[in-house]
Amino acid sequence: MTPITTSVRQGWKLYAISILVLFSSLFSSLALADSGRERLSLDRGWLFHLGDIPMPDIKGHGATYGNAKAGNAQGAAGTRYNDSDWRKLDLPHDWAVEGPFDPKANISQGYRPRGISWYRRYLRVDESERGRYFELQFDGIATHASIWVNGNIVHRNWSGYNASNIDITPYLRYGDASNTIAIRVDAEQMEGWWYEGAGIYRHAWLLKSNPVHIITDGVHATPRQLNDKQWQIPVEVTLDNSGKQAADVRVEVTVVSPDNKVVASKTQTVRVPLLRQTIASLPVTIKQPERWTLDKPALYSVKTVVLQDSKVIDEVHLKTGFRSIRFDAQQGFFLNNQHVKLQGVCLHQDHAGVGVAVPDSIWEYRLRRLKELGVNAIRFSHNAPAPEVLDMIDRMGFLVMDENRNFNPSPDYMKQLEWMVRRDRHHPGVILWSVFNEEPVQGTEIGYEMARRMTAAVKALDDTRPVTAAMNGGFFTALNVSHAVDVLGANYQVPDYDRYHKANPNKPFTSAEDTSAFMTRGEFTTDNSRNLIASYDDDFAKWGNSHRDAWQAIDSRPYVAGGFVWTGFDYRGEPTPNEWPSVSSVFGIMDLNGFPKTAYYMHQVQWIKDRPLIHIAPHWNWQGLEGKEIRVMVMANVERIKLLLNGRELGEQQVDPYRMNTFKVTYEAGKLEALGYKGGKEVIRTSVETTGKAVRLELLPDGASLAGDGRDAMPVTVRALDAQGRAVPIDNSEVSFDISGAGQSIGHGNGDPNSHEDEKGKTRRLFNGLAQLIVQSHFDSSGELLITATAPGLQAASVRIPVQKTVGLPFVPVSDAPVLYLQNWRISPPYATRPDPNQTLADNDMNTWNWGQPPLLESGTKESDNKANHFHLFRSDFTQDKRLGSGKARLLFSRINGKAEIWLNGKLLGSKTSLGTGDLSVDLPAGEGPAQLTVLVEAEPGKKAGLEGNIIAEPKK
Ligand code: GAL
Repeated sequence: MTPITTSVRQGWKLYAISILVLFSSLFSSLALADSGRERLSLDRGWLFHLGDIPMPDIKGHGATYGNAKAGNAQGAAGTRYNDSDWRKLDLPHDWAVEGPFDPKANISQGYRPRGISWYRRYLRVDESERGRYFELQFDGIATHASIWVNGNIVHRNWSGYNASNIDITPYLRYGDASNTIAIRVDAEQMEGWWYEGAGIYRHAWLLKSNPVHIITDGVHATPRQLNDKQWQIPVEVTLDNSGKQAADVRVEVTVVSPDNKVVASKTQTVRVPLLRQTIASLPVTIKQPERWTLDKPALYSVKTVVLQDSKVIDEVHLKTGFRSIRFDAQQGFFLNNQHVKLQGVCLHQDHAGVGVAVPDSIWEYRLRRLKELGVNAIRFSHNAPAPEVLDMIDRMGFLVMDENRNFNPSPDYMKQLEWMVRRDRHHPGVILWSVFNEEPVQGTEIGYEMARRMTAAVKALDDTRPVTAAMNGGFFTALNVSHAVDVLGANYQVPDYDRYHKANPNKPFTSAEDTSAFMTRGEFTTDNSRNLIASYDDDFAKWGNSHRDAWQAIDSRPYVAGGFVWTGFDYRGEPTPNEWPSVSSVFGIMDLNGFPKTAYYMHQVQWIKDRPLIHIAPHWNWQGLEGKEIRVMVMANVERIKLLLNGRELGEQQVDPYRMNTFKVTYEAGKLEALGYKGGKEVIRTSVETTGKAVRLELLPDGASLAGDGRDAMPVTVRALDAQGRAVPIDNSEVSFDISGAGQSIGHGNGDPNSHEDEKGKTRRLFNGLAQLIVQSHFDSSGELLITATAPGLQAASVRIPVQKTVGLPFVPVSDAPVLYLQNWRISPPYATRPDPNQTLADNDMNTWNWGQPPLLESGTKESDNKANHFHLFRSDFTQDKRLGSGKARLLFSRINGKAEIWLNGKLLGSKTSLGTGDLSVDLPAGEGPAQLTVLVEAEPGKKAGLEGNIIAEPKK
């Protein structure tokens, strides 16, 4: 028996205070926190178990009864599970990308085993926060998630592409107590036929707000144009009240222009009933706002403030933009009354090295690469993207087809569709809602009826944008999905474009998906035995077209609003036309890292018109092919081009904007140059050169520095250079990475669709001269991140990336769990004389002893009240596992009120002899297995006694 020097409670209190101090100093400038709303990152501090943990076999009446009760989830879902040997990690996380490739695994999912795994996290909430509203938010978990809080199942989300926003207020424990979040992720379930990843792969958050608050996605602020000069935002604010009384609040809306001027405001008073939602309507009119355009995406802020008794109790800021959109059946798409051909790509969401757990900054890189390519439209296929991605879309100026995953108008699935519209309707970038992609029932009455309901559900939430569905046929039948949507979205079907338009001259039409051509980056010879496909745009799926044919078909038809190339980037899975050992697709205009293929330059010269561009394919390293003919493709957006080899003119051609220009060139080492002319003047030139062999490595970070917040990440291009410093496009050296300082590698790739290298390992081969390493800063770091790359026979390269100290996002402190936290107790009736602490309670007796959780303070019997001491028994069961059964563990009782005896499995472990309140620590005897803990408490007449504080079991330090 040892007295605890610092009580358990005090320790935690000090911890809470230090966190509070940290918070107030770090984030005092965050205006929204002052309003009572805090949205804290919950990405840090998770525990992960790879593989399923079956629920324990429940037998016996008492156990079965208990299992059926709130808060009593068993096994890894519950509060008593020993997760001390689980892996610690931060989100976002994708466990599938960490796994090996397996030829027996699913080809569509990139031959990656998926399976079922578990996550757990502990959370402490200060006593002072009792009364606030708490919401857990997961932006995306692949694929089916079951979520428990303190042993209560609080949510099931059967889609990997929808957020889970969960009110956890009722289940929370405050002060000393630890809260347990447990998540079982079933990634054996699939929603797609592409790589979907596995795990909590988007961000997680903890929202804390006033009980009277704006619900998540509760501000509807989609602008609409009234006339030439005026716009309206019919702001609708949905409020909820989880407090103890109805609340009369004032809701204020202000609209702030990009140059920070208030351009409209409105106030409304509403009563928010108890535990019910109410909507405040505050339509505001804005005169001649600056337009959101692709080149200058002006964003306005819609600031919604809720006041009670003149005090701000909640505040939500949204960004939106003013732009008109119109799909014309003859002329295609108009943005702000200006014709815009949709130069689009379809995107899945995985990137080299990281799978689907793509850091925000890597998404920013991906979108930047698309901007450079001349893309103005993105179809997030076949699901809504992460919320941060749509924020970037608005800021960078892209148009988006936002797509619902599951075609199903039944209530559960309709919720998924409605979630997407509610979350995304304020984004000016979103111009189309898509209810599905390629459904076998699309040409039937069934498909029509399903789509009709889903379209209506979308319109009820947002009638400012047209609804489409990506159909790959079925649009000529008497009744089909195209009759239920506003814009026909055609996947492939180029031969049917004109026939459909002729039959439906008043129906707006866009390609929703086209091309599906194959190219392996950096390869210019098809080698079927090695699953390599030349990058000349010769190969495409039977249902698709070459890049050039598809764009020609779209661009030459004014009624076709535009196209969405399948795909912008390669993605894992669907390695069509190949199978194992190919594990990634080769449809991309860029590879999995965002390195360009020839298709990149084909589209770039077609899509970018405001500056001259010229490019040559292939590279000029064809040692051994001297005197042989090489097919050279020049891609340019000028009028004429001239090709020169080692200064000799090889020919001049008129630029062909659709086919590109091809030359047959007899190979000789040296310099191949292409010159571009406009109005007879040379306006641009480019060249490819035969390089020497590689002699050294080079590392090219994508940016100047990283923020030291543990989130910021950056791609670093790895290349091999010859003695003259020229990149060697055929080098395949194996590179080893050494990373130290203020960050780490989070993965790497090389764009080789046949590579089975470990994406998280220490080495990576260059593939056709390139690889990409992705580095991320450590949390709360500063200084430098040092990368050294070495390869046999080459001079090493190193680079230092400055890591800047930053305040970063407010976050939920990481809580370590006590090994075992004994929360659930049975409490005997009071006794006037000392009872037998080891008496048995019948397994089927649910009623004579009470149930409870600390603080447990009990009064005596009527008779004992004023005369004699009274007694109680408190009983809890737990399992003594390895760590608790080693003979080096202890039980810590914080604040036992009264005299106490501690009994374990019929043996007295220790006692507390004083009557007042005090802490107690007793050693746990060695031995594993079920343990029954009974505390006998004795108290003075008229006084309450019992277990006031926490009881934990832990190994001794
Ligand atoms: C389409 C489908 C895409 C992808 C593509 C490959 O039919 O919508 O998801 O599978 O084919 O060509």
